[in-house]
Amino acid sequence: MSINNLRQKFLENFGGDDSELRIFYAPGRVNLIGEHTDYNGGHVFPCALNFGTYGVARKRNDNTIHLISGNINLPVMVKTDDLKNDPVHDWGNYPKGVVAEIIKLGHTIGGFDFYIWGDIPNGSGLSSSASIELLTAVTLNGLFDLNLSMKEMVLLCQRAENQFVGVNCGIMDQYAVGMGKKDHAIMIDCLNLQHEYVPFDLGSYKMVITNTNKKHALVDSKYHERQSECNEALRILQQECDIEYLCNLDPETFRDHVELIKDPIIRNRATHVVQENARVFAAVSALNGGDLGLFGELMNNSHISLRDLYSVTGNELDVLAESAWKLESVLGSRMTGAGFGGCTVSIVAADAVEHFMEFVGNEYSTQTGLTAEFYVAETGIGAGEVM
Ligand code: GLA
Repeated sequence: MSINNLRQKFLENFGGDDSELRIFYAPGRVNLIGEHTDYNGGHVFPCALNFGTYGVARKRNDNTIHLISGNINLPVMVKTDDLKNDPVHDWGNYPKGVVAEIIKLGHTIGGFDFYIWGDIPNGSGLSSSASIELLTAVTLNGLFDLNLSMKEMVLLCQRAENQFVGVNCGIMDQYAVGMGKKDHAIMIDCLNLQHEYVPFDLGSYKMVITNTNKKHALVDSKYHERQSECNEALRILQQECDIEYLCNLDPETFRDHVELIKDPIIRNRATHVVQENARVFAAVSALNGGDLGLFGELMNNSHISLRDLYSVTGNELDVLAESAWKLESVLGSRMTGAGFGGCTVSIVAADAVEHFMEFVGNEYSTQTGLTAEFYVAETGIGAGEVM
Protein backbone atom coordinates (compact mmCIF):
# COMPACT_ATOMS: atom_id res chain seq x y z
CA MET A 1 0.00 0.00 0.00
CA SER A 2 1.37 3.45 -0.84
CA ILE A 3 1.79 6.18 1.77
CA ASN A 4 -1.11 8.08 0.19
CA ASN A 5 -3.33 5.03 0.44
CA LEU A 6 -2.38 4.63 4.09
CA ARG A 7 -3.35 8.25 4.82
CA GLN A 8 -6.59 7.69 2.92
CA LYS A 9 -7.39 4.59 4.96
CA PHE A 10 -6.74 6.45 8.16
CA LEU A 11 -9.12 9.24 7.17
CA GLU A 12 -11.81 6.77 6.06
CA ASN A 13 -11.65 5.13 9.47
CA PHE A 14 -11.13 8.10 11.76
CA GLY A 15 -12.30 11.13 9.78
CA GLY A 16 -10.84 14.65 9.99
CA ASP A 17 -8.22 16.08 7.67
CA ASP A 18 -4.71 14.91 7.05
CA SER A 19 -2.86 17.93 8.46
CA GLU A 20 -1.79 16.30 11.73
CA LEU A 21 -1.09 12.78 10.51
CA ARG A 22 2.31 11.22 11.15
CA ILE A 23 3.55 8.06 9.51
CA PHE A 24 5.93 5.51 10.99
CA TYR A 25 7.41 2.20 9.90
CA ALA A 26 9.10 -0.85 11.44
CA PRO A 27 10.55 -3.75 9.41
CA GLY A 28 10.39 -7.50 9.82
CA ARG A 29 13.62 -9.38 10.41
CA VAL A 30 15.29 -12.58 9.37
CA ASN A 31 18.02 -14.23 11.39
CA LEU A 32 20.96 -15.38 9.26
CA ILE A 33 22.65 -17.44 11.97
CA GLY A 34 22.78 -17.71 15.78
CA GLU A 35 19.53 -19.39 16.76
CA HIS A 36 18.36 -19.87 20.35
CA THR A 37 21.50 -18.17 21.59
CA ASP A 38 20.01 -14.78 22.56
CA TYR A 39 18.40 -15.93 25.82
CA ASN A 40 21.60 -17.84 26.63
CA GLY A 41 23.73 -14.70 26.73
CA GLY A 42 25.13 -15.28 23.25
CA HIS A 43 25.38 -13.66 19.85
CA VAL A 44 22.95 -13.52 16.93
CA PHE A 45 23.28 -12.27 13.36
CA PRO A 46 19.97 -11.06 11.88
CA CYS A 47 19.09 -8.35 9.39
CA ALA A 48 16.08 -6.09 9.02
CA LEU A 49 13.98 -6.83 5.92
CA ASN A 50 12.61 -4.52 3.26
CA PHE A 51 9.05 -5.24 4.30
CA GLY A 52 7.32 -4.56 7.59
CA THR A 53 4.53 -2.63 9.27
CA TYR A 54 3.35 0.94 8.67
CA GLY A 55 1.36 3.07 11.07
CA VAL A 56 -0.53 6.33 10.61
CA ALA A 57 -1.21 8.13 13.87
CA ARG A 58 -2.84 11.24 15.30
CA LYS A 59 -3.24 12.42 18.88
CA ARG A 60 -6.75 12.64 20.36
CA ASN A 61 -8.05 15.04 22.97
CA ASP A 62 -9.13 12.29 25.38
CA ASN A 63 -7.43 9.21 26.81
CA THR A 64 -8.81 6.68 24.31
CA ILE A 65 -6.51 4.54 22.20
CA HIS A 66 -8.25 3.47 19.01
CA LEU A 67 -6.43 0.81 17.01
CA ILE A 68 -7.43 -0.33 13.54
CA SER A 69 -5.55 -2.86 11.44
CA GLY A 70 -5.75 -3.06 7.67
CA ASN A 71 -4.81 -6.74 7.93
CA ILE A 72 -7.11 -8.06 10.65
CA ASN A 73 -10.71 -6.94 10.97
CA LEU A 74 -10.64 -6.46 14.72
CA PRO A 75 -10.68 -2.83 15.89
CA VAL A 76 -9.60 -2.28 19.48
CA MET A 77 -10.55 0.63 21.74
CA VAL A 78 -9.09 1.02 25.21
CA LYS A 79 -8.39 3.76 27.75
CA THR A 80 -4.83 4.61 28.70
CA ASP A 81 -5.67 3.90 32.36
CA ASP A 82 -7.14 0.47 31.62
CA LEU A 83 -4.40 -1.50 29.92
CA LYS A 84 -4.36 -5.22 30.54
CA ASN A 85 -3.81 -8.22 28.33
CA ASP A 86 -7.14 -9.30 26.87
CA PRO A 87 -7.13 -12.38 24.60
CA VAL A 88 -10.15 -10.95 22.76
CA HIS A 89 -7.97 -8.04 21.59
CA ASP A 90 -5.60 -10.44 19.84
CA TRP A 91 -3.10 -8.31 17.81
CA GLY A 92 -4.09 -5.22 19.81
CA ASN A 93 -2.27 -6.58 22.84
CA TYR A 94 1.10 -5.75 21.23
CA PRO A 95 0.54 -2.00 20.95
CA LYS A 96 -1.28 -2.02 24.29
CA GLY A 97 1.70 -3.72 25.94
CA VAL A 98 4.07 -1.11 24.55
CA VAL A 99 1.89 1.75 25.80
CA ALA A 100 1.75 0.09 29.23
CA GLU A 101 5.55 -0.25 29.36
CA ILE A 102 6.05 3.39 28.36
CA ILE A 103 3.62 4.53 31.06
CA LYS A 104 5.50 2.37 33.60
CA LEU A 105 8.61 4.38 32.78
CA GLY A 106 6.79 7.47 34.06
CA HIS A 107 5.78 9.05 30.75
CA THR A 108 2.34 10.51 30.12
CA ILE A 109 0.60 9.11 27.08
CA GLY A 110 -2.67 10.65 25.89
CA GLY A 111 -5.19 9.06 23.56
CA PHE A 112 -4.43 8.49 19.89
CA ASP A 113 -5.89 7.01 16.71
CA PHE A 114 -3.65 4.47 15.03
CA TYR A 115 -4.12 2.76 11.66
CA ILE A 116 -1.71 -0.12 11.10
CA TRP A 117 -1.01 -2.09 7.95
CA GLY A 118 1.83 -4.50 7.19
CA ASP A 119 3.11 -6.97 4.64
CA ILE A 120 4.95 -9.44 6.88
CA PRO A 121 3.21 -12.79 6.49
CA ASN A 122 1.52 -13.48 9.82
CA GLY A 123 2.95 -16.30 11.95
CA SER A 124 5.86 -16.76 9.54
CA GLY A 125 8.55 -16.25 12.18
CA LEU A 126 9.71 -13.01 10.52
CA SER A 127 8.85 -10.99 13.63
CA SER A 128 5.53 -9.42 12.78
CA SER A 129 4.97 -8.99 16.53
CA ALA A 130 8.29 -7.22 17.21
CA SER A 131 7.54 -5.08 14.17
CA ILE A 132 4.19 -3.92 15.62
CA GLU A 133 5.84 -3.35 18.99
CA LEU A 134 8.65 -1.16 17.63
CA LEU A 135 6.21 0.60 15.32
CA THR A 136 4.13 1.54 18.35
CA ALA A 137 7.20 2.65 20.31
CA VAL A 138 8.59 4.94 17.59
CA THR A 139 5.08 6.31 16.96
CA LEU A 140 4.52 7.24 20.60
CA ASN A 141 8.06 8.55 20.87
CA GLY A 142 7.25 10.90 17.97
CA LEU A 143 3.66 11.86 18.88
CA PHE A 144 4.35 12.55 22.56
CA ASP A 145 7.96 13.81 22.31
CA LEU A 146 9.24 11.16 24.70
CA ASN A 147 12.86 11.44 23.70
CA LEU A 148 13.52 7.72 24.11
CA SER A 149 16.64 6.26 22.52
CA MET A 150 16.21 3.36 20.08
CA LYS A 151 17.88 1.03 22.58
CA GLU A 152 15.42 2.04 25.30
CA MET A 153 12.57 1.35 22.90
CA VAL A 154 14.04 -2.03 21.94
CA LEU A 155 14.21 -3.02 25.60
CA LEU A 156 10.76 -1.79 26.54
CA CYS A 157 9.28 -3.66 23.57
CA GLN A 158 10.92 -6.86 24.76
CA ARG A 159 9.42 -6.25 28.22
CA ALA A 160 6.01 -5.73 26.59
CA GLU A 161 6.35 -9.10 24.89
CA ASN A 162 7.68 -10.84 28.03
CA GLN A 163 5.41 -9.33 30.63
CA PHE A 164 2.28 -8.10 28.85
CA VAL A 165 1.93 -10.59 26.00
CA GLY A 166 3.51 -13.41 28.05
CA VAL A 167 6.13 -14.78 25.65
CA ASN A 168 9.53 -14.94 27.26
CA CYS A 169 11.50 -14.17 24.08
CA GLY A 170 15.11 -13.01 23.97
CA ILE A 171 16.19 -9.60 22.67
CA MET A 172 17.03 -10.50 19.06
CA ASP A 173 13.78 -9.64 17.27
CA GLN A 174 13.17 -6.24 18.84
CA TYR A 175 16.85 -5.34 18.49
CA ALA A 176 17.02 -6.24 14.80
CA VAL A 177 13.75 -4.47 14.01
CA GLY A 178 14.80 -1.34 15.91
CA MET A 179 18.45 -1.13 14.93
CA GLY A 180 18.45 -2.72 11.45
CA LYS A 181 20.31 -0.96 8.68
CA LYS A 182 19.92 -1.18 4.89
CA ASP A 183 22.57 -3.32 3.15
CA HIS A 184 23.84 -4.59 6.48
CA ALA A 185 23.34 -7.49 8.83
CA ILE A 186 23.83 -6.84 12.51
CA MET A 187 25.83 -8.94 14.93
CA ILE A 188 24.29 -8.49 18.35
CA ASP A 189 25.95 -9.31 21.64
CA CYS A 190 22.79 -10.16 23.55
CA LEU A 191 24.49 -10.06 26.92
CA ASN A 192 26.09 -6.63 26.74
CA LEU A 193 23.58 -5.22 24.24
CA GLN A 194 26.25 -4.05 21.85
CA HIS A 195 26.15 -4.53 18.11
CA GLU A 196 28.27 -4.37 15.03
CA TYR A 197 26.96 -3.68 11.51
CA VAL A 198 28.41 -5.98 8.87
CA PRO A 199 28.01 -5.13 5.16
CA PHE A 200 25.72 -7.77 3.65
CA ASP A 201 26.85 -7.95 0.08
CA LEU A 202 25.74 -11.11 -1.68
CA GLY A 203 27.19 -10.21 -5.09
CA SER A 204 25.59 -12.49 -7.65
CA TYR A 205 23.51 -14.27 -4.99
CA LYS A 206 20.11 -13.53 -3.52
CA MET A 207 18.56 -14.09 -0.13
CA VAL A 208 15.42 -16.20 -0.53
CA ILE A 209 13.01 -16.71 2.34
CA THR A 210 10.72 -19.72 2.09
CA ASN A 211 7.58 -19.95 4.20
CA THR A 212 6.44 -23.43 5.29
CA ASN A 213 2.93 -22.03 5.69
CA LYS A 214 2.62 -24.43 8.57
CA LYS A 215 0.44 -23.16 11.37
CA HIS A 216 2.68 -23.48 14.38
CA ALA A 217 0.39 -23.85 17.34
CA LEU A 218 2.75 -25.05 20.05
CA VAL A 219 5.64 -22.68 19.43
CA ASP A 220 5.40 -20.76 22.68
CA SER A 221 5.24 -23.79 24.93
CA LYS A 222 8.08 -25.56 23.06
CA TYR A 223 10.12 -22.34 23.17
CA HIS A 224 9.71 -22.11 26.94
CA GLU A 225 10.55 -25.82 27.23
CA ARG A 226 13.88 -25.23 25.46
CA GLN A 227 14.61 -22.35 27.82
CA SER A 228 14.06 -24.60 30.86
CA GLU A 229 16.30 -27.26 29.33
CA CYS A 230 19.05 -24.66 28.86
CA ASN A 231 18.62 -23.48 32.44
CA GLU A 232 18.96 -27.07 33.61
CA ALA A 233 22.19 -27.50 31.61
CA LEU A 234 23.49 -24.22 33.03
CA ARG A 235 22.70 -25.26 36.61
CA ILE A 236 24.67 -28.49 36.15
CA LEU A 237 27.67 -26.84 34.48
CA GLN A 238 27.81 -24.21 37.21
CA GLN A 239 28.95 -26.97 39.59
CA GLU A 240 32.36 -26.68 37.93
CA CYS A 241 32.26 -23.55 35.78
CA ASP A 242 31.98 -20.00 37.00
CA ILE A 243 29.44 -18.89 34.40
CA GLU A 244 26.19 -16.97 34.28
CA TYR A 245 25.02 -18.08 30.84
CA LEU A 246 25.69 -21.09 28.61
CA CYS A 247 27.29 -18.83 26.01
CA ASN A 248 29.96 -17.77 28.51
CA LEU A 249 31.58 -21.08 27.57
CA ASP A 250 33.67 -21.48 24.44
CA PRO A 251 33.38 -24.87 22.70
CA GLU A 252 36.71 -26.16 24.13
CA THR A 253 35.89 -25.37 27.76
CA PHE A 254 32.41 -26.78 27.22
CA ARG A 255 33.92 -30.03 25.91
CA ASP A 256 36.01 -30.34 29.07
CA HIS A 257 32.89 -30.24 31.27
CA VAL A 258 30.14 -31.71 29.12
CA GLU A 259 30.35 -35.09 30.86
CA LEU A 260 28.76 -33.49 33.89
CA ILE A 261 25.47 -33.46 32.01
CA LYS A 262 24.15 -37.00 32.13
CA ASP A 263 20.81 -36.55 30.37
CA PRO A 264 21.52 -36.83 26.62
CA ILE A 265 18.70 -34.44 25.70
CA ILE A 266 19.94 -31.69 28.03
CA ARG A 267 23.49 -32.29 26.81
CA ASN A 268 22.39 -31.91 23.19
CA ARG A 269 20.59 -28.65 23.92
CA ALA A 270 23.68 -27.16 25.57
CA THR A 271 25.97 -28.44 22.82
CA HIS A 272 23.86 -26.71 20.20
CA VAL A 273 23.86 -23.41 22.07
CA VAL A 274 27.61 -23.29 22.67
CA GLN A 275 28.52 -24.37 19.12
CA GLU A 276 25.91 -22.12 17.51
CA ASN A 277 27.33 -19.13 19.34
CA ALA A 278 30.79 -19.96 17.96
CA ARG A 279 29.27 -20.32 14.48
CA VAL A 280 28.09 -16.70 14.62
CA PHE A 281 31.67 -15.45 14.94
CA ALA A 282 32.83 -17.79 12.17
CA ALA A 283 29.99 -16.65 9.90
CA VAL A 284 30.69 -12.97 10.47
CA SER A 285 34.35 -13.40 9.66
CA ALA A 286 33.48 -15.47 6.57
CA LEU A 287 31.22 -12.67 5.37
CA ASN A 288 33.78 -9.98 6.17
CA GLY A 289 36.36 -11.98 4.24
CA GLY A 290 34.04 -12.35 1.25
CA ASP A 291 33.85 -16.15 1.67
CA LEU A 292 30.16 -16.70 0.93
CA GLY A 293 30.76 -20.42 0.42
CA LEU A 294 31.91 -20.83 4.01
CA PHE A 295 29.08 -18.60 5.21
CA GLY A 296 26.60 -20.95 3.51
CA GLU A 297 28.24 -24.05 4.96
CA LEU A 298 27.89 -22.59 8.45
CA MET A 299 24.21 -21.91 7.77
CA ASN A 300 23.76 -25.57 6.83
CA ASN A 301 25.58 -26.71 9.96
CA SER A 302 23.34 -24.47 12.02
CA HIS A 303 20.24 -26.15 10.57
CA ILE A 304 21.66 -29.63 11.20
CA SER A 305 22.36 -28.70 14.81
CA LEU A 306 18.87 -27.23 15.28
CA ARG A 307 17.45 -30.42 13.77
CA ASP A 308 19.56 -33.04 15.56
CA LEU A 309 20.56 -31.41 18.85
CA TYR A 310 18.00 -28.72 19.58
CA SER A 311 15.01 -30.47 17.96
CA VAL A 312 13.17 -27.37 16.80
CA THR A 313 12.97 -27.91 13.04
CA GLY A 314 10.23 -30.44 12.31
CA ASN A 315 9.49 -32.18 9.03
CA GLU A 316 8.40 -29.10 7.06
CA LEU A 317 11.52 -27.02 7.75
CA ASP A 318 13.73 -30.08 7.19
CA VAL A 319 12.18 -30.80 3.80
CA LEU A 320 12.70 -27.18 2.73
CA ALA A 321 16.34 -27.03 3.85
CA GLU A 322 17.26 -30.50 2.66
CA SER A 323 15.72 -29.93 -0.78
CA ALA A 324 17.63 -26.66 -1.07
CA TRP A 325 20.90 -28.42 -0.18
CA LYS A 326 20.49 -30.67 -3.26
CA LEU A 327 20.97 -27.70 -5.58
CA GLU A 328 24.43 -26.56 -6.61
CA SER A 329 23.15 -23.02 -6.93
CA VAL A 330 22.46 -22.89 -3.18
CA LEU A 331 25.31 -21.83 -0.89
CA GLY A 332 23.38 -22.41 2.31
CA SER A 333 19.89 -22.92 3.69
CA ARG A 334 18.55 -23.09 7.21
CA MET A 335 15.50 -22.54 9.37
CA THR A 336 15.25 -19.06 10.88
CA GLY A 337 13.58 -17.84 14.07
CA ALA A 338 12.14 -20.02 16.81
CA GLY A 339 11.42 -23.02 14.56
CA PHE A 340 8.53 -25.52 14.61
CA GLY A 341 7.28 -23.99 11.37
CA GLY A 342 7.91 -20.50 10.02
CA CYS A 343 10.56 -19.95 7.37
CA THR A 344 13.92 -20.99 6.01
CA VAL A 345 16.48 -18.53 4.65
CA SER A 346 18.65 -19.56 1.70
CA ILE A 347 21.48 -18.00 -0.27
CA VAL A 348 20.80 -18.76 -3.93
CA ALA A 349 22.58 -17.80 -7.18
CA ALA A 350 20.54 -14.93 -8.67
CA ASP A 351 20.17 -16.61 -12.07
CA ALA A 352 18.91 -19.83 -10.45
CA VAL A 353 16.24 -18.36 -8.17
CA GLU A 354 13.38 -19.37 -10.50
CA HIS A 355 14.62 -22.94 -10.64
CA PHE A 356 15.11 -22.96 -6.86
CA MET A 357 11.50 -21.98 -6.30
CA GLU A 358 10.21 -24.56 -8.71
CA PHE A 359 12.37 -27.40 -7.40
CA VAL A 360 11.99 -26.73 -3.68
CA GLY A 361 8.30 -25.89 -4.13
CA ASN A 362 7.65 -29.22 -5.84
CA GLU A 363 9.65 -31.30 -3.37
CA TYR A 364 7.85 -29.56 -0.54
CA SER A 365 4.32 -30.10 -1.77
CA THR A 366 5.07 -33.70 -2.72
CA GLN A 367 6.53 -34.52 0.68
CA THR A 368 4.25 -32.50 2.97
CA GLY A 369 1.06 -31.78 1.04
CA LEU A 370 1.54 -28.08 1.86
CA THR A 371 2.36 -25.18 -0.47
CA ALA A 372 5.51 -23.18 0.19
CA GLU A 373 5.74 -19.45 -0.45
CA PHE A 374 8.90 -17.66 -1.58
CA TYR A 375 10.12 -14.10 -0.99
CA VAL A 376 13.27 -12.80 -2.65
CA ALA A 377 14.18 -10.48 0.19
CA GLU A 378 16.52 -7.54 0.65
CA THR A 379 17.87 -5.99 3.81
CA GLY A 380 16.01 -2.87 4.94
CA ILE A 381 16.05 0.07 7.32
CA GLY A 382 15.21 -0.07 11.03
CA ALA A 383 12.15 1.44 12.73
CA GLY A 384 11.45 5.17 12.49
CA GLU A 385 9.30 7.97 11.10
CA VAL A 386 8.56 7.99 7.37
CA MET A 387 9.41 11.46 6.12
C1 GLA B 1 12.29 -16.16 18.53
C2 GLA B 1 12.55 -15.25 19.73
C3 GLA B 1 14.00 -14.74 19.71
C4 GLA B 1 14.99 -15.89 19.57
C5 GLA B 1 14.58 -16.83 18.42
C6 GLA B 1 15.43 -18.07 18.36
O1 GLA B 1 12.39 -15.44 17.35
O2 GLA B 1 11.67 -14.16 19.73
O3 GLA B 1 14.25 -13.99 20.88
O4 GLA B 1 15.12 -16.59 20.76
O5 GLA B 1 13.22 -17.23 18.52
O6 GLA B 1 16.73 -17.75 18.02
